[in-house]
Amino acid sequence: MKAIIIGASSGMGRELAKILAREGYEIGVVARRQELLASLQKEIHSPIFLKQADISCPEESMALVGALIQEMGGVDLAILSSGVGFLNPDFDWNKDKETIEVNVLGFCAMANVFMKHFLSQGQGHLVGISSIAALRGSGCYSASKAFVSNYLEGLRHQMAKKQRAITITDIQPGFVDTAMAKGHGLFWVAPVERAARMIYRAIQKKKVHAYITSRWRLVAWLLKWMPCCLYDRFF
Ligand SMILES: NC(=O)c1ccc[n+]([C@@H]2O[C@H](COP(=O)([O-])OP(=O)(O)OC[C@H]3O[C@@H](n4cnc5c(N)ncnc54)[C@H](OP(=O)(O)O)[C@@H]3O)[C@@H](O)[C@H]2O)c1
Repeated sequence: MKAIIIGASSGMGRELAKILAREGYEIGVVARRQELLASLQKEIHSPIFLKQADISCPEESMALVGALIQEMGGVDLAILSSGVGFLNPDFDWNKDKETIEVNVLGFCAMANVFMKHFLSQGQGHLVGISSIAALRGSGCYSASKAFVSNYLEGLRHQMAKKQRAITITDIQPGFVDTAMAKGHGLFWVAPVERAARMIYRAIQKKKVHAYITSRWRLVAWLLKWMPCCLYDRFF
């Protein structure tokens, strides 16, 4: 089996790369920080394909990832783990802009490259790392993740209608102990290794959706059904 992970230089993407390599996958890893991709290669001890790409430049990164797919002779699994998130109480436009460029534009560009490839080979599995934040509004990050989850649901719907053997998985983590988890009052913060193991299990089972960790299902349920007046008051 062959897999490409976008956003594999750190955090969950990096841990998933290690798990997939251990499980015998041939892997390709993509991110901006090449030195971290190189150190991942040393850790993994088996040859991996590296590609430095900035997904906020969609056309350029689509061409690079397309070339990587060709180099690897096709892939069966694509994990879109890249993402940025900022606390932005002062409405710094550059932060919102980067969030949209990476989490929306870049995500969509990568999803397009892999979907086209999966359709041409008749099978494949696309996994997107969204967030529990997708469920309610709390700034540009949560809006970008709502886009991710909604987009993945749409892809799944389209594939079901076309009766294609292409699986789409939406992963919604709560808090995971990576550079991304910022701010005060974090709770139920999962170690990154555990989160990656759970994501891998969801991939193996070809789940359409998973909360990481599963106890976040409770928070999701509360967030989904909480009336606006209560949400505005408590969050
Ligand atoms: N940690 C949490 O609590 C949490 C909770 C919910 C959802 N998530 C989501 O989980 C995913 C993984 O995040 P993480 O927690 O593992 O954080 P992380 O360690 O910061 O990983 C983010 C990854 O995205 C890559 N990336 C960022 N901008 C990029 C760009 N322009 N082009 C290419 N790659 C880019 C980074 O690589 P380079 O910087 O090297 O490019 C890095 O590999 C993200 O989508 C995040 O939104 C995280």
